[in-house]
Amino acid sequence: MSNVPAEGGRERNEQPETARVFFALWPPPEIAGQLAALAASFAAQAGGRPTREATVHLTLAFIGDVPLERLADLEHAARNVRAESFDLTLDRFGLWQHNRIFWAGCSIVPPALVDLASALSAALQGAGFEVADAHRKFTPHVTLVRKVKALAAPLPPSHTLPWRSTKFVLVRSDLSASGASYQTLAEFSLSGRG
Ligand code: 2AM
Repeated sequence: MSNVPAEGGRERNEQPETARVFFALWPPPEIAGQLAALAASFAAQAGGRPTREATVHLTLAFIGDVPLERLADLEHAARNVRAESFDLTLDRFGLWQHNRIFWAGCSIVPPALVDLASALSAALQGAGFEVADAHRKFTPHVTLVRKVKALAAPLPPSHTLPWRSTKFVLVRSDLSASGASYQTLAEFSLSGRG
């Protein structure tokens, strides 16, 4: 009777269906537009795959594949995180040689951003989820171009992109040959100040 479904309707050797998920800050549309334009112009000059306006983000915690039946627990864990809204100013660009990523970051990382990432990571791990690179220092960045070809390409002149963060999101990523497509699964508010 090896074909009898196990409890819950799943056959014994069948893997649960999973979703590839991560938590992120999503920029307001005007900042996303400016970042996508910078990505496109850098990629035109240095090669590589620019991030599209619709997918520009700053990752807070990458989880990876989660069984669909655990998504509600994941959302619940994040819902209990208490963190403050903050202003983020993207004013630095860099090109990591080891993974060929052109990125935007901030010269002054807001303490509230670090607090949010660490509170979220602690809450997710406390609920039994593995957070990628949880043991490493959080390096906030927005990936603008992947697989850069010209690693000595000049970086853009300095720019200031102000970004008010009032919420974070849980996103599902579906990978395909043409790149990742993202779907927002849940939003979480950051509390206002004072
Ligand atoms: P990256 O921009 O630095 O490449 C969705 O895939 C997001 O999660 C990306 O922004 C990516 O960061 C990040 N990500 C993907 N895989 C990851 C991993 N194994 N560890 C940490 N972050 C990852």
